[in-house]
Amino acid sequence: MQFCIKWAALFGRLKTDIQSIRAQIPALASCTYLNCGTFGPTPTIVADEAVRLTRLIETKGPYDRDVNDEILGLFEHSRRDFAKYVGASPDEIALTRNVSDGINIVASGFDWSPGDEVIITNEEHPSGSLPFLNLAERYGIQVKLLKFQTNVEQLIADLDTLLSDKTKLVFLSHVSTVDGARLPAKEVGEFLKPKNIPYMLDGAHAVGQFPVSMKDLGCDFYAGCGHKWLLCQQGTGFLYVANDWITRLKTSWVGWGMTEDYDLDSLSYTSLKTAQRFEFGTRYWATHASAVKALEFHNNIGPENIYTRSHDLANQLKRRLVDIPGITVKTPMNRMDSTGIVCFSTSGLNHPEPGNWLWKNHRILTAHNPVTKSMRIAAAFYLLEDEIDLLADKLSELA
Ligand SMILES: Cc1ncc(COP(=O)(O)O)c(C=O)c1O
Repeated sequence: MQFCIKWAALFGRLKTDIQSIRAQIPALASCTYLNCGTFGPTPTIVADEAVRLTRLIETKGPYDRDVNDEILGLFEHSRRDFAKYVGASPDEIALTRNVSDGINIVASGFDWSPGDEVIITNEEHPSGSLPFLNLAERYGIQVKLLKFQTNVEQLIADLDTLLSDKTKLVFLSHVSTVDGARLPAKEVGEFLKPKNIPYMLDGAHAVGQFPVSMKDLGCDFYAGCGHKWLLCQQGTGFLYVANDWITRLKTSWVGWGMTEDYDLDSLSYTSLKTAQRFEFGTRYWATHASAVKALEFHNNIGPENIYTRSHDLANQLKRRLVDIPGITVKTPMNRMDSTGIVCFSTSGLNHPEPGNWLWKNHRILTAHNPVTKSMRIAAAFYLLEDEIDLLADKLSELA
């Protein structure tokens, strides 16, 4: 508790004390880390925990009873932590490797027939669109594209025109990976609920950026991960399956660990009645076990503090970028519709690959796509105002 108060107080004086938070994330000293949208940098307490558990496995053996109990205990601890973080019950959480896993579990959990329809947005990440394009190829389902937009009335009106009696799932990104805009996801949930149309969100860029609540969003499925904005280790995904869907969503991959009963003589089995029925087989449980420390780190700073600071940094960057010739900001400028992600077109800059140039010359790590000529910056809470200015200054040199 004392620790929490200390951190909350630190955030109050963040301009001077951000350094003490940064000192606990060593990668921040080696570069300007503007890409936690792909992988978040690891705090020392998280890496230490992962190393500690790996050493336990090394020195005592992975199936030593104590080691096994401790690691599996922490694995379940992380399930409870993720559940609490997103306002769900632990029974509604399957621990996965990544966001893509969660999307695939749901996409393959329906009995598809030719002509069934799925609605996705026109700004999905490949991991959000490929599972459905694959279903189109295999089962002849139809994928319909909804324009990603932040205007609630227009979004709902467009969605309404796409719905039909064949719509089997609506799958939308909570935050667009293309422009960092934030979907009015709760309003979509309110619209779909009375229609009984299953609703899934891709929370890759929402979880850890701003507080999310499953019940509030009204979605049936939500795929998220710890390895981006929550600063967990790679391989820490989770899938929320709303209670009333746990036994209705079909399991496509099965194996030990997902049953209550299993009897080969009678060729029968009964799956668990929790979202654990979507997990099976051996995994490196220590990875999720170390997520407990990452959530502790995050919660000690405070989700609201993190959200506010990240937004402020994103706004600082947007204000600088609009003045740079050759750059077009794609992310909405207003706070309600945006997040800590800032996306912009670099097509007017005098360099074909500004992402490489920033990295090679200035050790500024961004996500740049040379094909679409767009750059994505994750203005995460741990950054300094000076780092945001440094990026803007360097981009100005290419204008
Ligand atoms: C919106 C979105 N969805 C899904 C993914 C895939 O995430 P993962 O690598 O955890 O499967 C990403 C990766 O950046 C993403 O941006």
